[in-house]
Amino acid sequence: MGKDVIVACDFSKRAEVFDFLDCFTGRKPFVKIGMELFYAEGPSIVKEIKERGHKIFLDLKLHDIPNTVKKAMAILSSLDVDMCNLHAAGTKAMMEEALVGLTRKDGTRPILIAVTQLTSTSEERMKEELLIDKPIDKVVAHYAKNAAEAGLDGVVCSPLEAASVKLICGSGFITVTPGIRFADGEIGDQVRIMTPEKAKKTGSDYIVVGRPITQAKDPVAAYERCVREFVD
Ligand code: C5P
Repeated sequence: MGKDVIVACDFSKRAEVFDFLDCFTGRKPFVKIGMELFYAEGPSIVKEIKERGHKIFLDLKLHDIPNTVKKAMAILSSLDVDMCNLHAAGTKAMMEEALVGLTRKDGTRPILIAVTQLTSTSEERMKEELLIDKPIDKVVAHYAKNAAEAGLDGVVCSPLEAASVKLICGSGFITVTPGIRFADGEIGDQVRIMTPEKAKKTGSDYIVVGRPITQAKDPVAAYERCVREFVD
């Protein structure tokens, strides 16, 4: 499977996204659309971006009863997205039903990956609020294993966890890793970070890069630098 750079289009308005995407006259980046943009602009934004020739990771992190997730996934699949996700905490039954919903009549379907524990959840909160009494790395590994057993294609994880996820779930299990920063760039609010070059070596399949590209003076040059370091 080919490695790729996914650009997190964390904008809330249609015009901002298209101003940004208009800069890319050559290689069309794989883009991530999150809740903010999807809820603001609706499914039509997905179709419009797709029509411009971009691959799309629709990052809506579904988590509900299995039947509801199955039906919602069928709708997302009909939008012709390339990748979507859900919370592994929804159980294997939910993940299995999600796959059923996602699979189109011709047998094709978008890549489905799972969120294990959000990076915003600390071990302390997990213990105190969620009553999960195991170390967070064990929880992440266990949720990844559940996702693999349910038939999912991979997980979102820190680039620092990519190698161990592959060890547990197999080398073909996809790792999609945010928290990417250039060696000479700003870190912002991310804590556990890695450069695109290092992420390539640890076995990440897709890096998700937001601000280092969207806030760059020259977003196309920043994107191309990511591609050079991670893909080429
Ligand atoms: O701007 P930045 O490169 O930090 O953007 C990273 C993107 O990846 C954001 O859209 C963020 O919500 C997402 N993400 C993350 N950490 C996770 C899951 C998703 O940073 N664990």
